[in-house]
Amino acid sequence: MEVLLLALLLCAGSSVAQDLWTANMDIIAELQKLKHMDERIQKLEETLTKVMSENEALKTLVQDSQSKLETVQKESEAKKVAFSAGLLASGSKQTGPTNNLTILEYKKVFSNVGSAYDSNTGIFTAPIKGAYYFRFYAHCHGKITMAVSLVKNGVTQCSVYAWKPVSNGNGSNGVILTLEIGDQIYTQLWKNTWVYDDPESYTSFSGFLIFPL
Ligand SMILES: *[C@@H]1O[C@H](CO)[C@@H](O)[C@H](O)[C@H]1NC(C)=O
Ligand SMILES: *[C@@H]1O[C@H](CO)[C@@H](O)[C@H](O)[C@H]1NC(C)=O
Repeated sequence: MEVLLLALLLCAGSSVAQDLWTANMDIIAELQKLKHMDERIQKLEETLTKVMSENEALKTLVQDSQSKLETVQKESEAKKVAFSAGLLASGSKQTGPTNNLTILEYKKVFSNVGSAYDSNTGIFTAPIKGAYYFRFYAHCHGKITMAVSLVKNGVTQCSVYAWKPVSNGNGSNGVILTLEIGDQIYTQLWKNTWVYDDPESYTSFSGFLIFPL
């Protein structure tokens, strides 16, 4: 009876040991799988970090390129400066003479690329630093002197003059000026002189940017 019980116990014991052995093998296999997974996750993390930092670098590059492009576009827009205007928008009349200096306001605007010329005041304001060319043409009837100057910030640059012509007079002058942003250019009729204009636009004022500086 005791022998039988012992034999049974031994049998059961060896079966338990067998189970434990199998279970241990399974756990080791699982652990190895986990280790592999962990390695793969680490590699994935490294790759992801690399991709993300490359993506950041690309974003910065795109932003830089975009802002450079905008600057270039703005600069090339600012480089387009040119205007031409006749004195009278319509009709025909003498301007002057008066007992003071008069800024001529050219009302018939042929072109005004960049809107640097203001036909309300007759004043051109330099939008960018550069070399500019200006020219003006003046026509007058006889008996009264015609005198017009091109003026930069209140200082005369060049002029035309016709002293009491017998029937009529013409004068033209032009100059290249290096201007800073905001410099003001206009033409001014001298005291006690006059100019004439009609639909033929004998009296006119033009200017354009040659190149930025
Ligand atoms: C210049 O003189 C004219 C006529 O005498 C006058 O209408 C005008 O207001 C004067 N302009 C200035 C700036 O004094
Ligand atoms: C001034 O120019 C006008 C228009 O071209 C012309 O008819 C006129 O004869 C010129 N005057 C003189 C004095 O040359």
